[in-house]
Amino acid sequence: MTARRPGGYPGAAITGWGIALPDKIVTNADFAARLDTSDDWIVERTGIKERRFGGTTRALAVEAARAALARSGHEAREIDLLVLSTTTPDQAVPAASSAVHADLGCSGAAFDLNAACAGFVYSLVTALSMLGMGYKRALVIGSDTLSRITDQTDRATAVLFADGAGAIVLEARPDRELLLSYDLGLDGSLASILCCDHGGYITMEGREVFRRAVRASVESAQKVMADAGVKAADIALYVPHQANLRIIDAAVQRLGIDADRTSIVLDHTGNTSSASMAIALNEAAELGRLKDGDIVLLSGFGAGMTWASAVLRWGS
Ligand code: ACO
Repeated sequence: MTARRPGGYPGAAITGWGIALPDKIVTNADFAARLDTSDDWIVERTGIKERRFGGTTRALAVEAARAALARSGHEAREIDLLVLSTTTPDQAVPAASSAVHADLGCSGAAFDLNAACAGFVYSLVTALSMLGMGYKRALVIGSDTLSRITDQTDRATAVLFADGAGAIVLEARPDRELLLSYDLGLDGSLASILCCDHGGYITMEGREVFRRAVRASVESAQKVMADAGVKAADIALYVPHQANLRIIDAAVQRLGIDADRTSIVLDHTGNTSSASMAIALNEAAELGRLKDGDIVLLSGFGAGMTWASAVLRWGS
């Protein structure tokens, strides 16, 4: 669904951000030592050099959220809404957000949202809409532990997927315009090209995902740019889903965005699904690449097949 601004979305600001990555670094050489693959193949086809494995979805979410809270200067009890984007909850029931809510000591509501790699933008839009209905301060977290559902003997998927989390504190601020436009969508008829059964491992038609991903994320990004009335030259930072550098390069070319205005973290994180765009946004913020007023384009795709884009005006 594409949305134009019917007189503006709820005013808000991102006042905190945080990242959590497991300690264990897995390099391409580690895979080459036990699978029929090589550092050259992985770097050339994906752009990934190393990734992190370990932890739980809950623990990574809590660590990222604590960092975001510290940055925002707020206590967990001041949070009245927690939206946790994940495809890998540690348990089937209850939702992972339940444990995260308890560990942090938040108040108010909490729920999980699963829109795969597009989930962080789905969650951001969902939380923002709820701020418009009276919630004051939200934690929006993307956390995934994909190494647990990846067959580590399958070279086609093992080298891609990894673990991590990113979180932001989103506050209702009537005086601030954060969201300029958004686009959330999916094509459920494509579910079989990337899926994972309960208790099983991810299966993926890599070439088909690649082809569909470029098309879906470029079209979605073009829609939100048109809706926000911004051109490629206006984008201060492009935050794409971190699946494959060749997909990002293709999107950058088609959108006409400068490559050096793109946030790339996949070289050291791999594909962390729901956490991917949160980590890429937060690392850029942490590195001081964002200043108040900057136009930020987030755009991603994932299993479902889902896609989601948003144009934000950065203001912390
Ligand atoms: N090392 C060496 N060779 C490999 C590896 C590996 N790690 N993986 C696959 N190969 C081989 C294949 O077996 C195949 O061999 P064959 O020709 O003998 O059959 C050959 O490399 C070419 O395989 P392709 O799949 O055609 O390679 P491609 O260039 O398409 O790259 C890749 C594969 C990296 C998976 C690519 O298709 C891709 O990135 N697709 C998108 C994946 C993606 O983005 N997934 C996540 C999206 S959603 C989400 O984030 C959950």
